[in-house]
This record gives sequence, structure tokens and C-alpha cells, in this order.
Amino acid sequence: MEIVIHDSAAELARMAADVIEEVVRNNESPVLGLATGSSPLPIYTELIRRHKEEGLSFAHCTAFTLDEYVGLPAGHPESYYEVIRNEFTRHIDIDDARVFSPDGNPDTIATAGERYDAAIKEAGGVDVQILGIGSDGHIAFNEPGSSLRSRTRIKTLTNQTREDNARFFDSIDDVPIHAVTQGLGTILEAKHLVLIATGAGKAEAVANMVEGPLASVCPGSVLQLHNRATVFVDNAAAAGLEHVEYYNTSIERKPEWQKF
Ligand code: F6R
Repeated sequence: MEIVIHDSAAELARMAADVIEEVVRNNESPVLGLATGSSPLPIYTELIRRHKEEGLSFAHCTAFTLDEYVGLPAGHPESYYEVIRNEFTRHIDIDDARVFSPDGNPDTIATAGERYDAAIKEAGGVDVQILGIGSDGHIAFNEPGSSLRSRTRIKTLTNQTREDNARFFDSIDDVPIHAVTQGLGTILEAKHLVLIATGAGKAEAVANMVEGPLASVCPGSVLQLHNRATVFVDNAAAAGLEHVEYYNTSIERKPEWQKF
């Protein structure tokens, strides 16, 4: 795992966008894994800027979101299907039919996970997966206790996650109690994981993810099992890390030829 600490959220976003751009430019049919939530927004803003100002094209890309709430009606502005379009994909030239989200319809939920994993496989697997982390250590909606090998499936959201996400809804009662989420095993199959975390509210989760034991109580710690995981954090989110000096030295001494 590489830990990149920087005090500017814009600079972190720029570095993460470089990783995505590299994948987009160097693959015939790149598959992007997209997170929703606040953390990746600066990355999307930067990629949209590169599309508009520098001609970076996403026309040959396919994208899969990480998760979807269960039971929100089609077109609900907080469904991740809509959110990813509003925040990112509607502003670039990706084919909208190639932007996929798990099926959160309660009537067809039983097979939603299996169908989603099959669709990712069919597309050739995710080349680069953008991730955020919840204050309770969740990635996607794999809440504490999630199996480290889990596949895409329905999960019950913790009260903490529902409270954290209540800011997007009129009240906490409107936050769904279930979500369909890519499993930790599914996420681990992406070729490169790029996690971004900013703000003091993420410090404990980041410390547990990076330096805590590999344990389902902190689902983010599963990144320790991946052979290519890059974690972009600001100083506030890095505040609980013990080995900051080593992480900074490793980045400073990173060989010129070795990319993230
Ligand atoms: C959303 C997702 C979640 C968020 C996490 C952090 O697709 O996968 O795991 O990344 O809840 O959310 P923010 O970035 O809003 O703090």
C-alpha cells in the first residue's frame, strides 16, 4: 500500500486524476470503478476539467459504481445511479449506457449481486477502482463485520452510516436501511485501488485501515491484501497514522519511472 499525504485536497485530486487518466489513455476499453459520496468529488471535478480543457476522452470507457441504495424510486436524486451522473458522467463523453449501478429494486434484489458481479466480469474487470472510506471503516457499503471475501450483495447500513449520509436527505428517516454493494472480494479483483480520504472525521478509520490489523471490523483494512493500492490522504485524515515519516520518505524517494 502506498500512502500519499498532502495538505491540499486539490493536489491529492490532481494526483489521483493522473492515475485515472493514465488508465483511460493506455487501455483500449478501460473499465473504471466509481465511488459516490463527497471524497471523490474533487477527482471528478479535475477529470471533467481535463475532458473539457485538455480533450481527455472517456468515449471508450465503461464504468461501474460501487453500490446503490435499496428501495429508492428510479430517478430519485440521491440514488447513486443519479448521483454519479450528476456529479461526473453527464459532464464527460462516456456512453451513458455503459455506466452501470447495482439494481436496488426490492423486487429483483435477490439476484442483483450475482448479476452485477457477472457484468463486471463480462466487461473484463475493473482497471482502476476509486474508493472513499466511511468513518466506521466501511468501503463501498461493506459495514464492519463484512466478510473479507464477500461478493456483491445486500447489506444493512449501520446507524453511523445512516447518520453520516442523512445530510443528503431531508431527514435520517429517509435514508434507506439497506444497500446493494460490491463485496470486499469483488473490490479486491480491481487491478488498482485508489482511495481518497480527507478531514479529521476519517483519521481513525484511515489509521485502522493502514496500520491496524487485517480485520473485518475495519473493512478498509482489506486494502492490505491488494498488490496495488494507493491511499491519498490530507494531513487531517493522516493524523492517526504512526509511520508518516516513512510514508513521506517513500514517496520522496519513489523512482522516477515508477508510477502510482
Ligand atoms: C459510496 C461509498 C462509500 C463512501 C463512504 C465515504 O459509493 O462507496 O463507501 O465512499 O461512505 O463517504 P464520503 O466520501 O461522503 O465521506
